[in-house]
Amino acid sequence: MIRTRIRSIAHYVPEQVVTNNDLTKYMDTSDEWIRERTGIEERRYAHKHEETTTSMAARASEIAIERAGITKEDIDFIIFATLSPDYYFPGCGVLLQRELGITQTEIGALDIRNQCSGFVYGLSVADKFIKTGTYKNILLVGSEKHSMGLDFRTEGRGVTVIFGDGAGACVLQPTEEEGRGVLSTHLHSDGTHAEELAMINPGSHGGYHNADVDYGYPDPQVPGEIFVTPKMMKDYMLAPNMTGQLVFKTAVTKFPEVIQEGLNETGLNSTDIDLLIPHQANLRISAFVQKRLGLRDDQVFNNIQKYGNTTAASIPIAMSEAFEQGKIKDGDLICLAAFGSGFTWGSVLLRW
Ligand code: ACO
Repeated sequence: MIRTRIRSIAHYVPEQVVTNNDLTKYMDTSDEWIRERTGIEERRYAHKHEETTTSMAARASEIAIERAGITKEDIDFIIFATLSPDYYFPGCGVLLQRELGITQTEIGALDIRNQCSGFVYGLSVADKFIKTGTYKNILLVGSEKHSMGLDFRTEGRGVTVIFGDGAGACVLQPTEEEGRGVLSTHLHSDGTHAEELAMINPGSHGGYHNADVDYGYPDPQVPGEIFVTPKMMKDYMLAPNMTGQLVFKTAVTKFPEVIQEGLNETGLNSTDIDLLIPHQANLRISAFVQKRLGLRDDQVFNNIQKYGNTTAASIPIAMSEAFEQGKIKDGDLICLAAFGSGFTWGSVLLRW
């Protein structure tokens, strides 16, 4: 039986460390508030002009490709998860293909816009391609450059303090080794609260979702309206917004639910999990999930303290660090789980 194996994992985070105290220069916040509510101590910000979502992805990918013992020409498909793409279009998949210099093989490149669960969605899609024999070396990447798209005024503090930049990448290959590889994937979504954790501008909605908000469109009935209006720029309408408590409450329900779904399907128990790597959204969410599943501290990996929430990059960055620290060993049962904007959520159980 063919299963999907994570052949290699790597990450790249930009050099610039931004502490909670650094953020107090821009907004009314404090180190104490951020640590207490989120567990975050610092995050990384990409160099404004020299690094992009794609370039960070390329750095992580180069290491992953080298660790897999293959060359970039061996990659036969790219899956790129991000909510902070370099361009409105085309997506980062083709930009990564170009940056890595994979120009001869004309392989496919797919972009995934599933925010915090993007990596889990990407892994599930890749798993299907590999199991069916379609591809043999998929490069799956999650990368984010949040720092360019946040509101650094006090009005934006509820969202801005959470996010950081970085990238994680892995090479996925088929394996026929008994019991090894991806054992289950589960994906879910519920669009009811789509705007409760969103960045709706720039977009082509033309005010459709909320007629009460004035986006500054000269006349919404006129075709060909521009995506970004001067009013949006003036009124800081080009930043993410989040109803934090709704997201928090939903996350602490959905995380354990979707992990349990994987355990039920595979006939395993939470005590069988060697390492749970949850999407790093908030240390309190991770603690809640850990408690609900009855896991010990050494069964859960967290690094949000150093990097904040890096959205689609958070799981691969955490997995890469856990691997480098010797916390993932051959034969370990690893559980990945994510919840975020959409809402979308999912889990993956795999035997390393
Ligand atoms: N510094 C100081 N005070 C702040 C800050 C800040 N950075 N942010 C908010 N506050 C204030 C608020 O204004 C509010 O003040 P008030 O009581 O005077 O009105 C008070 O702190 C409490 O605000 P809440 O929003 O209720 O704080 P909460 O305890 O909910 O924490 C947080 C906010 C950290 C955002 C939390 O709700 C959370 O983590 N939510 C889930 C985030 C998440 O999982 N996101 C999903 C992934 S992201 C993605 O998918 C893109």
